[in-house]
Amino acid sequence: MSAGRKGALHRSSPYVTKMDSISADLMNEEERLLKSMRADPLEFREAMTRFAAAVSVVTTDGASGRRGVTVSSACSVSDDPATLLVCLNLSSADNAWFEENGVFAVNVMSARDEAIARGFAGEGKLPQPERFSRGSWSTGATGAPMLDTALASFDCRLIDAKVIATHTVLIGEVVGLRTGAAAPSLVYLERGFHTLDIGR
Ligand SMILES: Cc1cc2nc3c(=O)[nH]c(=O)nc-3n(C[C@H](O)[C@H](O)[C@H](O)COP(=O)(O)O)c2cc1C
Repeated sequence: MSAGRKGALHRSSPYVTKMDSISADLMNEEERLLKSMRADPLEFREAMTRFAAAVSVVTTDGASGRRGVTVSSACSVSDDPATLLVCLNLSSADNAWFEENGVFAVNVMSARDEAIARGFAGEGKLPQPERFSRGSWSTGATGAPMLDTALASFDCRLIDAKVIATHTVLIGEVVGLRTGAAAPSLVYLERGFHTLDIGR
C-alpha cells in the first residue's frame, strides 16, 4: 500500500479521530493543570528580594570578545572536581559570548569594589572596555579576566550549558583559582547592595 493511501485510511477512521481528540484534550488539561500550579513571576521576584546573595562579576574573553556581567546567580555545584554554575539572561545577546568563548571566570566581589559591580550591572550604560577600566585585571589560564582585588576568583572551562526558561545555565569546571585577602563582602538584598562585615 502506498504511503498516501495509508494516510487517507488513517484520516478517515472515526476511531482514530476520536482517540486523537481525547488525547489532545488530555494534553490541554495537563498543560492547564501545570500552569495553574506555577508560581506567579512577580510574587516569585518579590520573595527573592529576601534572598541575600553574594555578588560576583562573571567575565569571559576569547574569539567572541571580552565581557563582564554582575551576577547573583553564581554558586558552587561540586568540590571534586571543583565545579561552579552561573545563570545568564538570554535577553542580552552578548551573553552568548560566554558559551562561544567556552571559558569564564567568577570574581567574588568585596564591598570595596561596589562601583565595579555597579558598572558591570549596566549602571551608567558604559561600554564594556570602560567597565573593565575601573578595576585591575589579570588573565587566567583559560584567558578569562580575573579581578586582582576580588575576594576569590575562579577560572573555569565551560563543560555544559543548558537553557532553562529565560536563562542559560553555564556549568564550569574550575581549572584555576585565587583566594584574596579576607575583607567585607558585597551582598545584594531587598533590591540593594550591602556590605557584609563579620568584624575581623
Ligand atoms: C545584584 C545583581 C545581580 C544580577 N544577577 C544576574 C544574574 O545572575 N544573571 C544575569 O544574567 N544578570 C544578572 N544581573 C543583571 C546584569 O548584571 C545586567 O542585566 C547586565 O549586566 C546589563 O548589562 P548590559 O548593559 O551589558 O546589558 C544582575 C544585576 C544585579 C544588580
